[in-house]
Amino acid sequence: MASKKIDLPPGVLEPREAVLKMAPYSPPTGGRVDKLRLDFNENTVGASPKVLEFLRANLTEAGLATYPEYSEIKQDLATFFGVETDDFILTNGTDEAIQVLINTYVDDDDEVLLLKPSYAMYRFYAEVAGASIRDIPYRAEKLAFPLEELIESIRPTTRALLIANPNNPTGTGTSRAGIERILERATGAAVLIDEAYFEFCGITALPLLNDYPNLFVSRTFSKVYGMAAMRLGCLFSQSGNVDFLHKAQSPYSVNTVATLAAHAAIQDKAYIEKYATEVLAARELLYVGLENLGINYYESKANFVLFHAGARAIPIRDELRRRGVLVRDRSYEIPGCVRVTVGTRDQIRRFLTELEQIW
Ligand SMILES: Cc1ncc(COP(=O)(O)O)c(C=O)c1O
Repeated sequence: MASKKIDLPPGVLEPREAVLKMAPYSPPTGGRVDKLRLDFNENTVGASPKVLEFLRANLTEAGLATYPEYSEIKQDLATFFGVETDDFILTNGTDEAIQVLINTYVDDDDEVLLLKPSYAMYRFYAEVAGASIRDIPYRAEKLAFPLEELIESIRPTTRALLIANPNNPTGTGTSRAGIERILERATGAAVLIDEAYFEFCGITALPLLNDYPNLFVSRTFSKVYGMAAMRLGCLFSQSGNVDFLHKAQSPYSVNTVATLAAHAAIQDKAYIEKYATEVLAARELLYVGLENLGINYYESKANFVLFHAGARAIPIRDELRRRGVLVRDRSYEIPGCVRVTVGTRDQIRRFLTELEQIW
């Protein structure tokens, strides 16, 4: 890597060059508690009450004093996802899944393909690793998934492709057949299909695991399960790959409280299904509301929608915040666009009422 001279304040120890070159990533993380949280694509009503009930009944002093044990929760999750216990690792959120995958497969200067715009942490971990990143833009037309462009960009030297399906923030994605075409082309690369929003779209690459040794699939408990605070995810692949993922991972990165919460969460399938159904109904309501206001938007396969606010994207976000409704400005990557998380129909009605007053 070419070295670049950057002046550091006196007394500051020089970090690795890859870190020196990174732009800071600082999503807004404060002052959200009493607001309507339509900014992080979380579950906007919370985890299943059965999760908290189970935690209250099962958290003990001795349990907190003991390093986590994973055999029971791994068995529960294997059954739930229809895989073997050797086919996945538990991770501290999807973020750690991305990190472990990069740590396992990507060296300094190795090529990583990303789609643009996409989830910021792909670039973050690829940059920390010192990878050479190539971006493939989403299509201008409807922000559609650039399948042909991506396939044409894959080279024998490509080491990893990190793909959210459906993607954040575009809300668009590809089919299982599209994923297979990518896997067939990228035989020398680790292909991550991040399914953080699976429950809202129903498309999954998990059934392809046995057929493709280059496939990695991640799932999270941060979205529909309403457990973002717990930081729990799973990274699936063939067991031969999983052995290496384990080698590159800290042995206790997932905490015991998260494993207990997951145990209870997967028992309450009805809660998850009900919430996902509510979000899909609310998304339709949102589309109609935006159309009534004459606002252009992108159709989404997930629990968020990008809409056009033009030059007023930032003032609109700020004014909504003053009124207690949080949304995310994305105009820095898609000109004029604001992203709103879809919660319940009541929440979307409130959002539309506030938006109408300031539009
Ligand atoms: C595509 C995608 N993957 C993963 C995540 C975050 O997942 P986790 O909380 O499991 O780290 C997000 C959150 O916004 C996301 O949009």
